[in-house]
Amino acid sequence: MSEERLDLTGVADDDVTWTLLGTLYLRAWESGSPQPILGDHHAAEAIRRIDYDFAKLHRRVRPEANQYLVALRATQFDDWAADFLRRHPDAVVLHLGCGLDSRALRLTPPSTVDWFDLDQPKVIELRRKLYPEREHYHLIGSSVTDPSWLTGVPADRPALVIAEGLLPYLGEAEVRQLLQRLVTHFGSGELHFDAGARWLAKLSPLGAWGLREAGEVERWHPRLRCREEVAFTARYAKIPSPAYRRLYQVMNAIPFCRNIFREYRFSF
Ligand SMILES: C[S@@+](CC[C@H](N)C(=O)[O-])C[C@H]1O[C@@H](n2cnc3c(N)ncnc32)[C@H](O)[C@@H]1O
Repeated sequence: MSEERLDLTGVADDDVTWTLLGTLYLRAWESGSPQPILGDHHAAEAIRRIDYDFAKLHRRVRPEANQYLVALRATQFDDWAADFLRRHPDAVVLHLGCGLDSRALRLTPPSTVDWFDLDQPKVIELRRKLYPEREHYHLIGSSVTDPSWLTGVPADRPALVIAEGLLPYLGEAEVRQLLQRLVTHFGSGELHFDAGARWLAKLSPLGAWGLREAGEVERWHPRLRCREEVAFTARYAKIPSPAYRRLYQVMNAIPFCRNIFREYRFSF
């Protein structure tokens, strides 16, 4: 890893790939809070090394309000992943649509774990420049919908598949085929992902897939079972700002609001 600066000025704002800058920026912002929930200082360091119009991004993602969305979601996935890795220190981890997220650095899995970060080739190229590589850490530059990348991933160990902020950008048939391919490839494991409500996906210009209820995914494969689902507002008590804590608490009490985004933990 070199300390070179990475120039992302002029990348197209409407390219789904660069939505990763929004989540990275929100995590970086949150790490500067006096009482961070996630405290992702790797994100802050990454932002410092990237040239981009962050003032414009700041206006778009409004970190004062939206930092809690990404921090609560990331801690939920980190907690689920840490729990899985405690029970399966020989696991294979697939972190799909990883963007520039530093989850592998935050969780520091033991060397008995093989960790695969996957995203589009141009994102993986950037990751190589931003984050240190180490043994048992692997990068896959491919569209997740291309079936060929999975053949190189060991199938005979417990698998943890994490897809944070990814599946809502795929079509329903792509999500179904991906999950079926993953479950067929591995003997056992867990799948952690987030999804927006179906009605929201229909409204969004980017969104293609939304979920009404977990049973829809269970019906895609007989081994897929939903073990836990959590509303994005559920952990409102962790929010340090009293005003936003209260706002999330109110949203959490209203089914229509709390069901807008959910995190799901499936086993297979
Ligand atoms: C909203 S960002 C989330 C990134 C990261 N998980 C995070 O939380 O910061 C969406 C990510 O999905 C990736 N992505 C979207 N479609 C993809 C595809 N077909 N194959 C691989 N990655 C994809 C994008 O490149 C981007 O990194």
